[in-house]
Amino acid sequence: MKGGGGRRAPARQALAEENDRLYTLLELSTLLSSTRGVDQLLKFLAMETSVLLGAERTSIFIYDESREELWSKVAEGTGRKMLRVPSDRGIAGLALRKGKLVNVPDVHRHPDFNPDVDKQTGYHTRNILAAPMRSHGGGVTGVMQVLNKKSGAFRPQDEKMLMSIASIASVALENSLLIESQINLFESFIESSIHALGERDRITYGHTVRVALYSDRIARAISASGRAPFKRIHYSEESLRKLRFAALLHDIGKITVPEAILNKRDKLEPHEIEAIRLRFGQIKLAEKIRALENGGLNPESYRSFCAGLDSDLDRIRRNITPGAVSAEDKGAFERMRRSVYRIADDPTPQLTETEYQHLVLAKGNLSDEEFKVMKDHVRKTWDILAKIHWPKDLKEIPVWAATHHERPNGTGYPQGLKGDEIPLEGQILAVADIYDALTAADRPYKKRIPEPEAQKILRDTAAAGHLNADLVTLFLEACVAPDGDELPPAGVGNSER
Ligand SMILES: [Fe+2]
Ligand SMILES: [Fe+2]
Repeated sequence: MKGGGGRRAPARQALAEENDRLYTLLELSTLLSSTRGVDQLLKFLAMETSVLLGAERTSIFIYDESREELWSKVAEGTGRKMLRVPSDRGIAGLALRKGKLVNVPDVHRHPDFNPDVDKQTGYHTRNILAAPMRSHGGGVTGVMQVLNKKSGAFRPQDEKMLMSIASIASVALENSLLIESQINLFESFIESSIHALGERDRITYGHTVRVALYSDRIARAISASGRAPFKRIHYSEESLRKLRFAALLHDIGKITVPEAILNKRDKLEPHEIEAIRLRFGQIKLAEKIRALENGGLNPESYRSFCAGLDSDLDRIRRNITPGAVSAEDKGAFERMRRSVYRIADDPTPQLTETEYQHLVLAKGNLSDEEFKVMKDHVRKTWDILAKIHWPKDLKEIPVWAATHHERPNGTGYPQGLKGDEIPLEGQILAVADIYDALTAADRPYKKRIPEPEAQKILRDTAAAGHLNADLVTLFLEACVAPDGDELPPAGVGNSER
């Protein structure tokens, strides 16, 4: 028993140290499920590894198979500088190639040591402990490397500890890569859907890209706002990405709107004018035949009849662009609608009901029926997006996108939601949507409204309860210059139409 207490003391100390290590490992494992950002977690893992192993620095290298390089995701002591080293060189490269832990007590006696990194960083490496990081499938995804044990060389317990931490780091990394690839998949799917939409409809494509840009600015301004009612609202990068997706998809329902309505420029399209011109020609001919059959054609009155039809056609042509129609023209169109001629025994009105309804439109270029179809795009947006199995983090996208035509005063569509019933993000999209509709230079059916006037309209629209007034104020104060933006057309908005 003599001297036993002296032997037990170091044993107890070793046990306590082992306990501490296990406790720290447990803590690190818990962090895996509680820390969202992988960068933050890996930085923390590297820091804890240096402390636990009594070392100066720890680095985490990711294996880039395509370039056959290891690049530093975390490199303590190098600031933000990323290190890139060939994967077939150095001790980390050796651990990667062998797929095994490598413990080098004196690097300068080791043939695989790569002194280039020390030359780059100005650091003096004495010893290295490097452990491979393995994926779920068994492949090596990276290397954890610890430099310079402060006292002596790395010991077997350091090796065991590093292997455990490296497996925690590889799980974290794999999880983050999985999440990242899922997000990338969604992002590329969204981008590709929007491009497909752009192939058919360049204007909507340009519009959605700009709405995404404005919405992002508004959300960032909300985060930066220290004022009520946005004081406590903050958009993380993830939320901003979600809002961007919703903005890019907000008009995806327009893929169901017939091209004749979607691309309509005037009240009557050229082929409709041509149909009217041909009909007037048939009326002239039918009138001539009828006069000849009835005993003779009076050239004077026939010329006058033809001149009347030509004048009617000119009147129609003068009224096809969107805008109010004068009382005189409206009266003339009513007369034409009521005038019925016989062409090959078929009673034919000079103007059809549809043509008449289009010509007398006081606003815009769409009839009530066409406008109904156009408005339905937002319901279709919902139908399309609600069918997608969104990950939990993105599940609000369909609701945000499909509320961009709701209005705080309840006059919007399709649900007629009011005030807070509309998610803030739907209200952000609405502001961006209307602003772009006013200022876009690529709409075929209307001219760009000058910036001061557009901003006044936006304020008036908010004052009437059609837009969130606080958002409009913030947008005009923080997001657009008083004289408007020099916005890139994002490679779109091709104004060939
Ligand atoms: Fe819309
Ligand atoms: Fe829109």
